[in-house]
Amino acid sequence: PEVIIVKNEAEAGEIYARAVADLIKSKPDAVLGLATGSSPLAAYQALAKTVKDEAIDMSRVRGFALDEYIGLPLSHPESYHSTIHRTVVEPLGMNPDLVHVPGDVLDGAPLEDGDKLAHAGADYDAAIEAAGGIDVQILGIGTDGHVGFNEPGSSLASGTRIKTLVEQTRVDNARFFDDDIDQVPTHCITQGIGTIMRARHLVLLAFGAGKAEAVAQTCEGGVSAFCPASALQMHPHATIIVDEAAASSLR
Ligand code: F6R
Repeated sequence: PEVIIVKNEAEAGEIYARAVADLIKSKPDAVLGLATGSSPLAAYQALAKTVKDEAIDMSRVRGFALDEYIGLPLSHPESYHSTIHRTVVEPLGMNPDLVHVPGDVLDGAPLEDGDKLAHAGADYDAAIEAAGGIDVQILGIGTDGHVGFNEPGSSLASGTRIKTLVEQTRVDNARFFDDDIDQVPTHCITQGIGTIMRARHLVLLAFGAGKAEAVAQTCEGGVSAFCPASALQMHPHATIIVDEAAASSLR
């Protein structure tokens, strides 16, 4: 992959915003792959500013998010449905009907609702394909090399599917649930690595020393399910944008 080292998150955001703004100008119904978490926030802010400054029409732009918790009502403030609508759809002025999060069709259905859950992943991948595929997928990376909720050990060919959340991820995310791990869902639905790899352009953002080891494994380690993000080495158009601290373990 192409690695770009930037001064800060704002500079990374500018690069993303320029690429996406130019895409939308040439393809007004472009399909954006969206992520939650802290890493993409400056990129969404930069894009919102560019959209405003250049009066870009966002009304036909479509979106597909990476992942969602299982069993959380869509209206819960920490559902990724709520998060994507709050941090992306509203500030960018996208049509909410054109933005999809993998749990939307489940509408908070519990894990026990096997009938509903059985087809949700394959249906989501089919919806992405029916939309013509994702043009630009924004990605963050976990300190263990996860992308989406594809934790180490995930098949590099996987499609969208239900997964258990690893204990560490539930501990990490408890801060969004009153610091009470019992409130953190135990399962998720996530785009697979295979799904992510079908996007035409991948833009992975990583900031801070905590991401340095994962970034080095992703760019310079072997391609392995032990670092799911390392699959990006096989992608024809992947851009990894990092600050100095996140780049510090690269050779
Ligand atoms: C987000 C997602 C996760 C995050 C990753 C990094 O939808 O699927 O893989 O991108 O955990 O999170 P941050 O950006 O908060 O460091």
